[in-house]
Amino acid sequence: MKVLVIGGGGREHALVRSIAGSRRVSEVLCAPGNAGIAQLARCIPASQRDVDDLLRVTAAESPDLVVVGPELPLSLGLVDELQRRGVAVFGPTRRAAQLESSKAFAKRFMQRHQIPTAAYAVATSEQQAMESMDLFHLPVVIKADGLASGKGVILCETRREASEAISGLMSGKLLGSVQSSIVIEEFLTGEEISFLTLSDGKHVAPLAPAQDHKRIGEGDTGPNTGGMGAYSTGSMLDDQMRDWILHHIAVPAVNGMAAEDSPFVGVLYCGLMMTARGPMVLEFNARFGDPETQAILARLDSDLLATLEACVEGRLSDAELLWKPGASACVIAASSGYPGSYVTGHKISGLEEACRVPGVEIFHSGTGLVDGHYVTEGGRVLGVTAAAATLKQSLSLVYQALDRIQFEGMYYRRDIGRLSLKSA
Ligand code: AMP
Ligand code: GLY
Repeated sequence: MKVLVIGGGGREHALVRSIAGSRRVSEVLCAPGNAGIAQLARCIPASQRDVDDLLRVTAAESPDLVVVGPELPLSLGLVDELQRRGVAVFGPTRRAAQLESSKAFAKRFMQRHQIPTAAYAVATSEQQAMESMDLFHLPVVIKADGLASGKGVILCETRREASEAISGLMSGKLLGSVQSSIVIEEFLTGEEISFLTLSDGKHVAPLAPAQDHKRIGEGDTGPNTGGMGAYSTGSMLDDQMRDWILHHIAVPAVNGMAAEDSPFVGVLYCGLMMTARGPMVLEFNARFGDPETQAILARLDSDLLATLEACVEGRLSDAELLWKPGASACVIAASSGYPGSYVTGHKISGLEEACRVPGVEIFHSGTGLVDGHYVTEGGRVLGVTAAAATLKQSLSLVYQALDRIQFEGMYYRRDIGRLSLKSA
C-alpha cells in the first residue's frame, strides 16, 4: 500500500513511524511533513489550511489510503472531498468533526445523548453571556466555540475576569477572530485523562489511555499549550473504569453521531476529567492527540495500519489492538517563549547521541534542515519518547536523552509523570 499522511508535527512523525513499520506498506508520503519525518517518508510541500492544495497532492500521488492528522483540514471538509473522489481516507467528515470544531455543537450533542459533561450555557451575544453567568458558581470556565489550538479556554476566578474573557472572545481581541458563540461551563476538578478511541462509524476500540500536561510551567502553572508531555501506563485506568468510560461516553457518542446521520470514522479523543461524580467530558477531539500519540504508539504492539484500514472499511470489530505492558513517556522540548512568540532557526545538536539511549525515539514536532543541520522551526520542536517496563524507567530514558540535546532557548518540563510516580 501507498499511504499519505496529512500533517507535519510530532503526532504525524509517530504515525508515519508506525505506518512505515507495517508489512503492508510499500511507500509512505507525508504532506507537508517536517525534517524528521523526511527520514521515513517522502515529504510533499502543501498547506494544511488549503483543501485544494491537499486534493492536488492526493490526485497526483493516488495513495491507497490517506490518514489525516490535524483538526484544521478535518474541519475544512478534506475527508468529504476525498470521499467524493473515491479516495479511501481515515478521519471524520466535516459534520462529524464538529464534535471538535464547535464546542457548542459538542455540548448540545452530549446533552441529547446523556453523555456526562459539565453544566453549560451557550451564548451568542455579550449580554446573553453575562446574563447566563448568573446560573454559575465561581470559578467558571469560558470557552471559544471554534478551533483555537488550546488557547480558547479561560478559567475565571471572578465575575470581572469572566466579563473580560467574554468580551475578549466576542470582540476578537483574544484570539484574533471574532467568536459568534461562546460556551460558559461549570468548573470541574479532578485528574485529566486522554481516552482515545478508534471508530469505524459503528464500533469503538479504545487505545491505551494517556495523560497530557497542558500547562507550560512545572507544577501545572502558566498558560495552556498544545501539550508539553504525555505518558501512558497499563495501570492508569482499571478495566472496570475503562469499560465504564467506553459504554457511557465513547459508544454513546459514536452511536449518537450515527443516529444523527454523521457516522464518525476516525479517532474520537475523549478529554476527560475524573471528578468525584465520575468521569466527565471536558472536550472531544476528532483526531489523534499530540503528544499523546507519541506515547500511545510507543506501547502499541500490533499493526496500526491494519487497524486504520479496518476503520475505513467498517470492520473494526475484526481488528485486534495489542499493547506492550509497562509504560511510555514523551517529553516535549520547546522554543523559549512558547506558547507566546518565539524565534526559530536555531541549530539543534546532540540528536544522534540522544537516539543512542536505548529505547528512545525522537519525534520531530517543528524542525527544518538547513545545510545538513537540523534547526528549530516551531514552538514545540521535539518529542523525546521511550517505552520501558515502568513509568520511572521510561522517564529516566527520556530525560537522559534530553540531557544530550541542545538548542538555544531549549525548554522542557522536568516534572512529566511525576504526580503519577508519587501515587504509584
Ligand atoms: P479543552 O480544550 O476544552 O479541553 O480545555 C483545555 C483545558 O482547560 C483542559 O484540558 C482543562 O485543563 C481545562 N478545562 C476545560 N474545561 C474545564 C472545566 N469545565 N473545568 C475545569 N477545567 C477545564
Ligand atoms: N494534547 C492535546 C491535544 O492534542 O489536543
